[in-house]
Amino acid sequence: MKEKFYITTAIYYANAKLHIGHVYEIVMADAIARYKKMRGFDVKFLTGMDEHGQKIEKTALSLGISPQAHVDEMAEHTSSLFKNALNIDYDIFIRTTDEMHKTAVQKIFKALYDKGELYKSSYKGLYCMPCESFYKEKQLKNGNCPECNRGVEPIDEEAYFFKMSAYQDRLMKHIEDNPEFIQPESRKKEMINNFLKPGLEDVCVSRTSFKWGVPVEFDQGHVVYVWVDALSNYITALGYTSDNEADYKKYWPADIQLVGKDIVRFHTIIWPAILMALDEPLPKQVYGHGFLIIDGLKMSKSRGNVIDPNVLVEKYGTDAIRYFLLREMPYNGQDANFTNEALIGRINADLANDLGNLLSRTVGMIDKYFGGKLPENQASNEFDAQIIKLAEEVARKVEEKMDAYHISDALVEAWVLIRRSNKYIDETMPWVLAKDTEKQAELAGVMYTLAEVLRIIATLIAPFMPNTKNAIAEQLMIDAKILEEWENSKKFGVLAKEIEIKKGAIVFPRIEIEKEVKVDEKEAKKDQKKPKQEEKTEDLITIDDFAKVKLKVGEVLECEKVEGSDKLLKSQIKVGERVHQIVSGIANFYSPEEMVGKKVVVVTNLKPAKLRGVISEGMILAASDADGNLNLVTIDGSLENGAEVR
Ligand code: MSP
Repeated sequence: MKEKFYITTAIYYANAKLHIGHVYEIVMADAIARYKKMRGFDVKFLTGMDEHGQKIEKTALSLGISPQAHVDEMAEHTSSLFKNALNIDYDIFIRTTDEMHKTAVQKIFKALYDKGELYKSSYKGLYCMPCESFYKEKQLKNGNCPECNRGVEPIDEEAYFFKMSAYQDRLMKHIEDNPEFIQPESRKKEMINNFLKPGLEDVCVSRTSFKWGVPVEFDQGHVVYVWVDALSNYITALGYTSDNEADYKKYWPADIQLVGKDIVRFHTIIWPAILMALDEPLPKQVYGHGFLIIDGLKMSKSRGNVIDPNVLVEKYGTDAIRYFLLREMPYNGQDANFTNEALIGRINADLANDLGNLLSRTVGMIDKYFGGKLPENQASNEFDAQIIKLAEEVARKVEEKMDAYHISDALVEAWVLIRRSNKYIDETMPWVLAKDTEKQAELAGVMYTLAEVLRIIATLIAPFMPNTKNAIAEQLMIDAKILEEWENSKKFGVLAKEIEIKKGAIVFPRIEIEKEVKVDEKEAKKDQKKPKQEEKTEDLITIDDFAKVKLKVGEVLECEKVEGSDKLLKSQIKVGERVHQIVSGIANFYSPEEMVGKKVVVVTNLKPAKLRGVISEGMILAASDADGNLNLVTIDGSLENGAEVR
């Protein structure tokens, strides 16, 4: 019977479209899954979408569509990106809005409750909505979320808590007893020193201030905290708690769970503690990779440096992008940098020059010297032994690196053989042999060696670059299935002697970097010509004009929706001694509960006006962008209400 292998990626937030950094993980998982399939494992490869939570609810509201419609669109976009653009061969694409998942999450929550692992209390603290994470004041960095550096908001609501603190010792012991559990080593140290040693606290596992989540069956008004909902996907997707647990029994525990460095904490502390509480086995390994960054900076929408993977794939092709990502990211958990120059450099050097050339030179010569068909009469060459020995060594090293999930190193090894094979052409000088009628058998032997080495190379790179493997199969006119036989990568002489080839298109055309840079510059200039929104020449005002606007700090005492309007909120705002009633069009972005207690900036000397029949005495300042996002202007400190803003 085949040995099972279960691999998972994190499931992707259905909040916005993915950028090139996000897709590193799915490409890595795909390479490992393909490799394991080639090695004869019974592989299950899971990915999917994380579709609940406050952030998604808010985004959908701001777009004026239902959360379900929003996540449907995102799931469609993401699955098509994976399948069509990136050639990801996943087995399961779970969505946390799937009925089967929701039912299982309810059962998991209830089971934890019945086992006495949960208790009801209230949560008063800070929340980072983009990360969907709870924080204490002391955990913040410069007052912001320590993970994404964005603002946090206070929350105070009834909630269930999971008795996480009880798992401190068991978790520590598990990590010590299972050195492979958290990888790479740097992440393990980080988890032990930053989270386990300082002591674990109970975690909040339900929310009551919004609706978009899995409802807690036995306590209406509570939805399961989105991280508990999301983490459960790894087992609900296998049928855990359903009528048919066969896949769960077969595939769980996962052999490896891939996650980015920002969410290792959830996967190596909260997730295992939940599994322990459920009496279920822990994953064998959680691997926390580094980030793909741009010029040393994190990719983010607000920074405007996100790169669309679809655009890159369209420009350079699926395999080039897969290769670049896998080759650049080191195993040790450090970040990898993305630049156009680095990408084009890899394409030109490793793909066009090394791999592409080897293929086109080989088929080109078989075509030219033998009309595309090698004769049976072949003689060996003095360089053959070396290259045959190297091929065998390289195949073993690639295997060793892949078994340890050292993807980039596996590629480095494969390229040793590719480069050596190009050198073999220079050493054997087929163009000289071709001129000597007595050397035809030797020439045919050189061509056969090259074709065989290409077959081995195609097999070694098949997990990373499946399209290129197919292109090589086509040009060598062999069934691509032969190139998926991993064991054959360690053998020489698999192909029939009389092979026939078919010259095909160049697999990786060279990219003229100067041309590319010029196109990019042109595009940048075009962009510059468009007047930017904030640079429009507007009528200038004097300082006296500005002084006419009285801006003050106000504190929201009460807030409610304006009846009959989806957009308007009516707030009672204390500004010094006075309370202003202010109506603002912010209901799509802030709930009345969220508003209470906020310190905002208020225009206090506006003529009162009526909105939907409700009197409004002033205005709250807010910033909004072209995408329709809106943020209130708030006070970064402890000034009391009534303070003047200048
Ligand atoms: N929904 C959560 C995960 C829940 S798992 C139960 C989430 N989603 S995400 O869409 O924000 O991120 C998905 C994966 O992409 C995560 O592993 C994350 O670390 C990874 N990456 C996000 N940005 C990245 C880079 N710039 N580079 C590499 N990986 C990155 O987190």
